[in-house]
Amino acid sequence: MHSIRFRFFSFLAALLLILLLLLNTYPLISSRDAVYEEKRSSMAAAASVVTSSLSGLDHLTRQSVAEVLAFLDISGYSRILVTDREGTVIYDDGGPSGGTVQIEDVLTALRDSKTIFRSRLSEAAFSSSYAVPMSAQGVITGAVYLCEHDSERAEIIYGIQSRIRVLSVTISLAALLLSGSFVLALMRRLQDLVRSMRVVAGGDYAYRHPIRGQDEISELGEEFNLLTERLETTEKQRRRFVSDASHELKTPLASIRLLSDSIVQNDMDSETVREFAADIGHEAQRLQRTTEDLLDLSRMDDGIGFVPEPSDVSQAAQDALVLLRPLAREHNVRLSAALDDGCVVMGSPDELFKIIFNLTENAIKYNVPNGTVDLIVRGTPEAVEIEVADTGIGIPEADRLNIFDRFYRVDKARSRATGGNGLGLSIVHDAVQAHGGSVAVGQNKPQGSKFIVTLPRATEEETGI
Ligand SMILES: Nc1ncnc2c1ncn2[C@@H]1O[C@H](COP(=O)(O)OP(=O)(O)OP(=O)(O)O)[C@@H](O)[C@H]1O
Ligand SMILES: [Mg+2]
Repeated sequence: MHSIRFRFFSFLAALLLILLLLLNTYPLISSRDAVYEEKRSSMAAAASVVTSSLSGLDHLTRQSVAEVLAFLDISGYSRILVTDREGTVIYDDGGPSGGTVQIEDVLTALRDSKTIFRSRLSEAAFSSSYAVPMSAQGVITGAVYLCEHDSERAEIIYGIQSRIRVLSVTISLAALLLSGSFVLALMRRLQDLVRSMRVVAGGDYAYRHPIRGQDEISELGEEFNLLTERLETTEKQRRRFVSDASHELKTPLASIRLLSDSIVQNDMDSETVREFAADIGHEAQRLQRTTEDLLDLSRMDDGIGFVPEPSDVSQAAQDALVLLRPLAREHNVRLSAALDDGCVVMGSPDELFKIIFNLTENAIKYNVPNGTVDLIVRGTPEAVEIEVADTGIGIPEADRLNIFDRFYRVDKARSRATGGNGLGLSIVHDAVQAHGGSVAVGQNKPQGSKFIVTLPRATEEETGI
């Protein structure tokens, strides 16, 4: 649950631990090694001065060695020891002479004729020793052993080390504190966002996440709010659609029920029964059309489109005209058409038919006696235009924005009388969009309305011509 926080702190702790370890060991080791090297070379130089000076003596005695050493003025060593070839101490300023030397390094230097240097750092000092054999004409004549005790250097190194320790621990704690509080604040804001998401997921689509600052998390919050807004709109539309749809279905069903009840309960002559049955049929037809339209719309909502094929718009217009001519006659409206050849779009002939049928049907239905309807299909290099102009009652400007909404009717009473559901233009709108086109509505001068649908024309590659 808190894995990001946990992971961050583990990572940070590991990083700081490594840093602390490095800072508290590396400087000590490297400066210690540098001092060792320096000691080795300075002791080697001193030892070589002593051995070369002593090799000039014929006979090594305590007296002669002391004289040479005094002359050389070698200082800074805590002990200088000189032995003969057998390991008998001739000179030792740190103890008695005469006995056999007990120092392992000196014995090894005499036996194996090699130089042995040792240096050790403890809290108190650098303790170094240097054992070197003396020789004359290739023959070992004795050994020199130097010891040194340097507490000053050790003190400096340990002083620096302890300052580094204090500093690194302080910096680590500060880093842990600062980044810790930063991460905790970040986590709190993310948790706030999660809380908001839970509120919205619980169904409160009106809730908005409070936005603070202008960073990436605020951006996330803004995106989430946009998403919620879209959800809210969709949800509102869905609710309205369901209530509108059930209302539209309820009214004809109630009429059917009323009519059938009347037939069952009353003694009627066969003429009246036939009239009532015809009315029932009429209502049932309306129900059928409504449900078909609703199915069409929900199919388009689901994005279950058509497979685009080269479709002739003028042909679809011809098919619609065949069905609509009787209606025009019934309404006493003159229907004229001007259809260009070769107006092909990539789409579905069925959907094109629905677009033209619905627009032309409206133009006839919302017309006046002796009015006209002009259906034009024309091609431009890029597009195919369908224009439906009528001399009818027109659409008030305030309603033009809404007429493509589902179940929207300008004059509820009037269009109900003409049998309209208010779904025709929604279907037109969705079908036009599915073809990648656009639909616009305007006034037809001097009277009536004009709808213009613009669809992208099929290219030569698409039609295969
Ligand atoms: N050519 C037009 N002239 C005047 N009003 C129109 C015209 N076309 C549409 N309208 C208005 O727009 C409303 C919506 O039209 P739409 O085609 O969507 O629904 P309808 O015709 O009422 O019902 P349906 O087409 O579903 O049977 C209509 O009710 C009508 O008021
Ligand atoms: Mg209509």
